[in-house]
This record gives sequence, structure tokens and C-alpha cells, in this order.
Amino acid sequence: RGKRAFIAGVADDNGYGWAIAKSLAAAGAEILVGTWVPALNIFETGLRRGKFDESRVLPNGSLMEITKVYPLDAVYDGPEDVPEDVKTNKRYSGASNWTVKEVVETVKKDFGTIDILVHSLANGPEVSKPLLETSRYGYLTAVSASSYSFVSLLKHFLPIMNPGGATISLTYIASERTIPGYGGGMSSAKAALESDTRVLAYEAGKKGQIRVNTISAGPLGSRAAKAIGFIEKMIDYSFANAALQKELRADEVGNVAAFLVSPLASAITGSVVYVDNGLNIMGAAG
Ligand code: NAI
Repeated sequence: RGKRAFIAGVADDNGYGWAIAKSLAAAGAEILVGTWVPALNIFETGLRRGKFDESRVLPNGSLMEITKVYPLDAVYDGPEDVPEDVKTNKRYSGASNWTVKEVVETVKKDFGTIDILVHSLANGPEVSKPLLETSRYGYLTAVSASSYSFVSLLKHFLPIMNPGGATISLTYIASERTIPGYGGGMSSAKAALESDTRVLAYEAGKKGQIRVNTISAGPLGSRAAKAIGFIEKMIDYSFANAALQKELRADEVGNVAAFLVSPLASAITGSVVYVDNGLNIMGAAG
């Protein structure tokens, strides 16, 4: 039987989540995705109308199939956590069962188990503010959406993950070195995500023989990154200063994710794996 993957954080064909889905599909996995509720309509309409067909082409010429798209908001663990104004918000009221716990229950009902969990989502409402100007709300929201969301997804999916399974999340070098412009507590959120990768590798390894790794990816002009406002600068900086002076393609990250969740990586867990053209090793401009 092929493996089944749930990829949280796909809402278009520009981000790392889409690229990872494609690499996993090319390796024979069945693809389920979790899409942020406010982005669900546009994404599903695009899929239906063939907007993404060109980007669905796999190396063998076939098209990636997404078996099911689940609405998801990973900042809410269960229905009791959803505030009234969100429940009644027009962008949310059209969908149902989108809290983490409910999504996992639905996946269990639909398919029984999964093998691979991918977390490719982040959100920080004050990302464009320096840390010194970030509010407590902005900081905690960044950590809730970008770090605890992974803890929650793993906690709820673990009971239906087949032993030998694996998870991947996406992190950024701003966790360990100062990147001006990546504010709002997002650098703190990535530091938490990396630390949690080590702790959860131990806990999920012990509990369910599940591996937990994170990819520290170089800059990509995704929708989320464009919203931050400095991505073109970071792409140019990387192109000029990384060990490999070439463009970084999303599928290079997708391919490493596919490796890390495969049996080829059966002894790798708790690791931060850099897929950044070697930018992280540089200590001065070339
Ligand atoms: P993206 O826009 O393709 O992905 C982010 C996704 O998160 C979007 O689909 C958005 O709808 C979803 N999302 C936001 N809040 C959510 C919530 N509460 N519940 C569920 N989904 C939610 O952008 P990108 O850049 O591919 O981001 C994927 C991951 O890669 C993120 O963790 C990001 O921090 C990380 N990353 C991105 C880099 C870049 O330069 N683009 C560099 C290093 C890491």
C-alpha cells in the first residue's frame, strides 16, 4: 500500500506545502491537504476550474491528485475554543469541522490512518513590526499559529499515525540569527518550533515510532512571504551570498521533505535540515 500524507498549509501552488505535496505524490503517496478556512473557497474553486493544472504535472507527466481538501484552522484545537465572532464570520460559517480535533476525527472516519504529517503554515499578525514594538497579543498569536499548531496537529494525529511514520515542518534561520524585517515574534515562533522538534522527536518516537524533523528553508516568494514585504530583498541576498549562487526552487525543498519522511531517512529524527543553498554556513559576504 502507498503511504497517505496529510499536508497542512496549502492554499495555492506557490508555497512550500504545494511543492512538498507534489514530491510526495511523485513518490507514490496519497495526498490529503488542510487549507486555512478563509482561503478554502478560492483554492477549491481554482482546483475545480483547472487553475493549478499546469503546476499539478508530475515528473512522469501525470497530474497530482489531491484526494481530499479539509478546511482547517490550526489555532483552534476543538469547537469549544472558537470565539463567537469567528464562528459567525462569513469566511468561516460556510465550512464545518475545521478545528484540529475535528479534522483528525474526519480523516480517521474517511481513511482510518495516515503515515505522513506535514506542517507548512505560519502566521504572525505583527510580522512587519520589530520585536521591540510587538504586542503581547501579536507575539502569542504568532507562536499559537506557527508553533503550537504543530504540537496540536501531532498530538491529535499521533493516535492514527502508522508506526514508522514521519512528520515535517518548515522553519527559518531567523530563529537562530537576526533577520531584520522578520518580526512580530515570528523569529521566536521558529525558535520554539525547532526546540519542539527535538522534544517531540523523543516523545513521538517513544509513543508511536514516529520521526519528527524540520526543514530550515531558504527564501521563497510564496503568498505568505510576500505579505511580510521583504522577500525580494531576501531572495536577492541569498542569491548573492549563499554558498550555491543559484535560485532556490520550492521543489528542492519538496524533494528533501520526501526523503526525510521516507525509509531512506529512518534514523534521522529531531533534526533541523537546511535546504537553503548553504546560506546558513556563510559568515561574511562573498
Ligand atoms: P504559504 O502562503 O504557501 O503557506 C502558508 C499557509 O499557512 C497558507 O496556505 C495559509 O493559508 C496557511 N495558514 C495561515 N494561518 C493558518 C491557520 N491558522 N490554520 C491553517 N492554515 C493557516 O507560504 P510558505 O512561505 O510556503 O509557508 C510555508 C511554511 O514555510 C511556513 O511555516 C513558513 O514560515 C515556512 N518558510 C517559508 C520561507 C519563505 O521564504 N517563504 C522560508 C522558510 C520557511
